Amino acid sequence: MFFLPVIAVLPCLASIASAQNQYTATASASIAAARATALTLSPTSYVRGKTFDRFVNIWLENTDYDLAAADPNMQAIAAQGITLTNYKAITHPSQPNYIAAVGGQTNWVIWDLWANIHESALTIVHLLDAANVSWSEYQEDLPYSGFEGNYVNQETGANDYVRKHNPLISYDSVTSDLNKLAKMKNFTMFYEDLAANKLPQWMFITPNMTNDGHDTSVTTAAAWANSFLTPLLSDSNFMNNTLVLLTFDETANYLSSNTVFSVLLGDAVDPSLHGTTNDTAYNHYSIMATVENNWNLGNLGQHDATATPFF
Ligand SMILES: *[C@@H]1O[C@H](CO)[C@@H](O)[C@H](O)[C@H]1NC(C)=O
Ligand SMILES: *[C@@H]1O[C@H](CO)[C@@H](O)[C@H](O)[C@H]1NC(C)=O
Ligand SMILES: *[C@@H]1O[C@H](CO)[C@@H](O)[C@H](O)[C@H]1NC(C)=O
Ligand SMILES: *[C@@H]1O[C@H](CO)[C@@H](O)[C@H](O)[C@H]1NC(C)=O
Ligand SMILES: *[C@@H]1O[C@H](CO)[C@@H](O)[C@H](O)[C@H]1NC(C)=O
Repeated sequence: MFFLPVIAVLPCLASIASAQNQYTATASASIAAARATALTLSPTSYVRGKTFDRFVNIWLENTDYDLAAADPNMQAIAAQGITLTNYKAITHPSQPNYIAAVGGQTNWVIWDLWANIHESALTIVHLLDAANVSWSEYQEDLPYSGFEGNYVNQETGANDYVRKHNPLISYDSVTSDLNKLAKMKNFTMFYEDLAANKLPQWMFITPNMTNDGHDTSVTTAAAWANSFLTPLLSDSNFMNNTLVLLTFDETANYLSSNTVFSVLLGDAVDPSLHGTTNDTAYNHYSIMATVENNWNLGNLGQHDATATPFF
């Protein structure tokens, strides 16, 4: 969340609206052209891990722990996994949390503004690639694979897909490589990859600004998460010794301890632990620590090296 000061624009609203329509039409044409030639890749691999063979991050937005814990859809999800009761986000606002979760540090990004992180900054992708562990991102309503901008709903103009919720897109080491951009995909591709049994071993899933709760509420986000996950939890193309982390990027309250409601799910979680809680101190850096430990990837020597892994 980042609020720019409101500038007096009331007299200009009509011209802004027509500029928006014009912008949308131009954007649609160039997007259609880029979509037609965008490279899309869906690599797979079967590198055996210690505790799981596939890791899935799913991130929702801006919700305090108690509010999430009180939601009936979240409770239904939690009943099928382990609730982490002492899991903290890194900072505020959103973007540095996403960036840190794949880079082991925030890389001096402190706001939600457009970020480009120098080529020399390593990410989890370097470690996954070195071990031949396949990876992809699935970002809802990304207009085509490898798109680097922000995208609004073409009918309503509402914020839809945003870069700040895409953890890898700000890293030059990713965007300078067409084969990596080709693994930044949308939900159309997620369902194609799922149906073709071509999901990767590491993935990061970001719902759009409606479904992640950012522009709505935890009620919407939790209903989306429950409806998204329920069919996947019994789909053998998704569940094959799979560990899912459902979490929130940060709390809404900037004065809180930033403890976010987080659940570990999937067939890699022992069914005897379903519906239990775990109060070990974890944070977003635990994600990298867990993945690195599972596949013996080494680490980036950042906060990933010292965070506590889930397993
Ligand atoms: C499940 O994983 C194993 C090895 O990790 C692989 O050989 C098998 O093909 C996978 N099954 C499906 C349905 O993807
Ligand atoms: C990764 O794949 C490449 C090409 O197939 C191979 O040469 C390399 O040994 C593999 N690395 C590991 C760690 O398995
Ligand atoms: C998703 O990405 C694919 C691959 O670039 C593209 O063909 C498709 O039109 C996109 N879907 C939506 C709904 O934008
Ligand atoms: C987000 O996706 C849902 C469908 O999953 C759709 O109903 C909603 O309109 C989308 N949000 C925006 C802003 O386009
Ligand atoms: C939960 O807590 C214990 C420590 O009491 C720890 O050893 C265990 O591996 C934790 N994690 C999970 C995901 O169960």
